[in-house]
Amino acid sequence: MTVASSAAAAFESTFGSEPTGLWAAPGRVNLIGEHTDYNDGFVLPFALPQQVVAAAAVQEGPGWTVCSDFAPEPVTFASSEPGEVKDWAAYVAGVVWALQEAGFDVPPARIALASDVPVGAGVSSSAALESAVLTALADLGGLDLPVAKRPALAQRAENVYVGAPTGIMDQSASIRCEEGRALFLDCRSLEVEQIPFDLAAAGLAILIINSNAPHRHVDGEYGARRRSCEEAARILGVPALRDVTGDGLDAALAKLDDEVMRRRVRHIVTENQRVLDTVDLLRSGRVREIGPLMTASHASMRDDFEITVAEVDVAVEAALAAGAYGARMTGGGFGGCVLALIDAERADATTVAVERAYAVRGFTAPTTWPAVPGPGARRL
Ligand code: GLA
Repeated sequence: MTVASSAAAAFESTFGSEPTGLWAAPGRVNLIGEHTDYNDGFVLPFALPQQVVAAAAVQEGPGWTVCSDFAPEPVTFASSEPGEVKDWAAYVAGVVWALQEAGFDVPPARIALASDVPVGAGVSSSAALESAVLTALADLGGLDLPVAKRPALAQRAENVYVGAPTGIMDQSASIRCEEGRALFLDCRSLEVEQIPFDLAAAGLAILIINSNAPHRHVDGEYGARRRSCEEAARILGVPALRDVTGDGLDAALAKLDDEVMRRRVRHIVTENQRVLDTVDLLRSGRVREIGPLMTASHASMRDDFEITVAEVDVAVEAALAAGAYGARMTGGGFGGCVLALIDAERADATTVAVERAYAVRGFTAPTTWPAVPGPGARRL
């Protein structure tokens, strides 16, 4: 059964009628540009074929009723304040809240959700859920809400309603990505450029390696990185670390006393430049040459930003030893997935190499699949 037919079936069995429509929004991986989004910098994500599908219809009475194929009980809520609706339904209530806060008349609705986006793998299952619900409600209510303004509302649901201090990358990717392209996003201006990303034409593939690293208690680490960056920007007298460029890096570092903060700043400044360099190479079709930038990004996350763990470091090293052109962890860190840029026919050999390296260390086996850039949020 496809995710779309699961969502439709869940709707019919829970509500006893057919949905008005089906809306899908994908998970994402980020090709390069990590933790740069909340520093007003650059990111380059692309959408995964895995998606959340919302089957939805306007309901007669007030409020919203949501069910899903990942939790047995439907949840009903009226207009709510941040934090009132808990667990997975908080992402739905958060979207309703953010839309209402922005002055939209949100239609009361019944929604059934289904998903094949892996949870806890750092591929933005929550942003996919928010984006699918937001797209459905905007269509059902005929809301005058341009696509470019949608990610910030879904991000507000996540930041304020759910309480996770994330940047705007994940919701932007889920809503604005296009099939066969990577999304070059300037997180300050919110301007986007769709960068052609035809791996197959170059005889290449990106292998996604889910490290399956155990969930660690690292929620506080993301916020700590963010605060450190904001504090550094304050000391340097700039609006955000985006405003420190490669040329000004040494001078900026000389103004910071704290060695850890210096390393955090160095990651952000060099990572922004790596995104720009990657985009330049892709624009001129030199896909293979982005490999060293990916590997340099990983080293920077490992040594300067300190957000990697043994499982992702080992996956990167094993993929490189097996001939990958480049490899890096993608996403917020402390586990999640690694991307390896490889010759298309090397997917099995690379997987075996990573599996062997994991077995030697006693790690849980990784899961791998080839990344094919899919479309962003849409009505099916
Ligand atoms: C998480 C956040 C994003 C971004 C990445 C790191 O995915 O949700 O906003 O900060 O981490 O690049």
